[in-house]
Amino acid sequence: MKKHVLITGGTKGIGKAVATALGKAGYELLLTYASDEDAALQTRGELLKQFPGAGIRLLKADITGRPGIDIIYDYLTENNLRMDAVVFNAGLTCRASFEEMRLDEWERVFFGNVSFPVFLLQRMLGLINKGGSVVFTGSLMGIHPHSVSLAYGVTKSAVHSIVENMVKFLAPYEIRVNGVAPGFVDTEWQKNKPPEIRQAIENKIASGRFCEPAELAGVYRMLIENTYFNGSIIVADGGYSYK
Ligand SMILES: NC(=O)c1ccc[n+]([C@@H]2O[C@H](COP(=O)([O-])OP(=O)(O)OC[C@H]3O[C@@H](n4cnc5c(N)ncnc54)[C@H](OP(=O)(O)O)[C@@H]3O)[C@@H](O)[C@H]2O)c1
Repeated sequence: MKKHVLITGGTKGIGKAVATALGKAGYELLLTYASDEDAALQTRGELLKQFPGAGIRLLKADITGRPGIDIIYDYLTENNLRMDAVVFNAGLTCRASFEEMRLDEWERVFFGNVSFPVFLLQRMLGLINKGGSVVFTGSLMGIHPHSVSLAYGVTKSAVHSIVENMVKFLAPYEIRVNGVAPGFVDTEWQKNKPPEIRQAIENKIASGRFCEPAELAGVYRMLIENTYFNGSIIVADGGYSYK
């Protein structure tokens, strides 16, 4: 029987690369996105070219509010879908300084990065098959605090903590949970930074370059397929701060 994976934010960047890696592994894909339908359709087209006949579904489901949880749950139940893997990938940031940070922005980032995946997981627990695997996307910024976004760093630390705390809660369901903490990955998120900032980042990475989404995707695939990983956070940062 075909295996199914849900990937939040699966239409661009890291999520798209994970979709490609899991498509290669024979998974049927359910990819969510926030608003860029054109990019989502283009990604679906590219994936269908690589994996003709594969089930590749798109679903618009924003992680900034509770309706996104209902949209995904309702879609799964209406289509009789059960998942073998769930990748919580979509994430938010807020770059306001500490002095200018607003409570509503802080709460938006907390909801999207922390509350959304926790309560979606709670809701869809009965729809994940035994032997299933959940992978959260944390960040190096949750390990090495970063001055640019307090909300981002704190929520990504929380994501790592969720992974470790959830192991015991998911074990009775025979579901494993792990996380990936990427350093700097060359997606739109990073490509939009000014060249001098990108250079400053590369100067701090022992490997001397950003990570390609495809090489990171292999880590997700390994965590999903290797059944001995449980509660692990894999840091993939090219040796950041070792230079
Ligand atoms: N890139 C890095 O260097 C890096 C490093 C560490 C951790 N991360 C983490 O990796 C994850 C993915 O980052 P990325 O760089 O791959 O991002 P990206 O290239 O900007 O891709 C974003 C994807 O997430 C979706 N998305 C964005 N906001 C959303 C929302 N409010 N609700 C639902 N979906 C939303 C986008 O949909 P639309 O196209 O419709 O907006 C798109 O599919 C994030 O959790 C990020 O924190 C990234």
